[in-house]
Amino acid sequence: MPDRREVVVSGMRPTGRLHIGNHWGALRNWVSLMDRYDCYFFVADWHMLTTGYADTAALRANVREMVLDWLAAGLDPARSVIFRQSDVPEHAELAVLLGMVTPLSWLENNPTWKEQLQELSKTKLSKAADGEDHKAAEGEAASRYEIRTFGFLGYPVLQAADILLYRGSRVPVGQDQLPHLELSREIARKFNHVYGPVLVEPQPLLTQTPKVPGTDGRKMSKSYGNTVDIYETADTLKAKVMSMYTDPTKIRKDDPGHPEPCPENPPGCSVYALHKLYTTGWEKIGEDCRAGRLGCVADKKHLLESLDGPFSAFRKARESYAARPEKVDELLAEGARKASAAARSTLDQVRRAMRLR
Ligand code: TRP
Repeated sequence: MPDRREVVVSGMRPTGRLHIGNHWGALRNWVSLMDRYDCYFFVADWHMLTTGYADTAALRANVREMVLDWLAAGLDPARSVIFRQSDVPEHAELAVLLGMVTPLSWLENNPTWKEQLQELSKTKLSKAADGEDHKAAEGEAASRYEIRTFGFLGYPVLQAADILLYRGSRVPVGQDQLPHLELSREIARKFNHVYGPVLVEPQPLLTQTPKVPGTDGRKMSKSYGNTVDIYETADTLKAKVMSMYTDPTKIRKDDPGHPEPCPENPPGCSVYALHKLYTTGWEKIGEDCRAGRLGCVADKKHLLESLDGPFSAFRKARESYAARPEKVDELLAEGARKASAAARSTLDQVRRAMRLR
């Protein structure tokens, strides 16, 4: 008898290698949810196409890389359903049906849509301002940057399908995803209003996540090139930590430092921020730094020691799967099988409610 636990659904677009910002911001949370919920975690490769349709060369590889990073971070295929969106075509069928009840105005008012269009025109303008050949810039814009597509406008409809298909009642998402989730709720309500109560309205599952600065003190982000990736080796980790942003006012090792963000060091020391996440007794490190008793080099070596355990664990889990690529295929096939079974039962009810069957 399966226990009736609440269902959690969440997805990530396959952007490639994950970093510890993703780990602390989302993955760690996903891992902890496996104990309490029936979890569906999927790689949103169709969502990747909404903006990345013109360049799919790395898409398949990125899906695998991301799944490996998920496993490295502790997602367990025995305790959650891990799959790739495009392996479960039911997502597409439900998206088509939900599209029928979704007013265009809801999609056009979606902040992500509006922002992306603004970003886009900025990119185009700056490219033109950079003095690039006008024709080339235009061609590139047409082939790579045209995202006023049906697919991109429909991003939230597909996302609603992702969630509603599994009767997800809880969706762990970041603040930036709240408008999308609100649209999922509205679409579910509209469907239920028209065809009867079939779909479950999902609620966000917001969690406190620590700030993870990048190696240069700015927010950790792939686009800044300042990430510490989940899959660093001891060598690459060392290189990144030893050149990490600390406190520009601390010139000599016995100068008093400013580990926390403050007027003297607005971003705060990245090494210290990571100590807070990985080192027990990090408070003492702050005190010693402030008192001028701790130099940055010694401090960085200490951080490397703290990182060694968790990163070895990442590497071990990842390598055991990476060494047997067919394992990932099997895991995804098994995940798709389980997901499809759940998805088909919801779709069946949806079709009936709409009098298609
Ligand atoms: N839009 C989400 C993101 O970019 C990814 C996503 C797709 C998702 N479908 C979802 C997240 C369903 C939660 C539930 O992060």
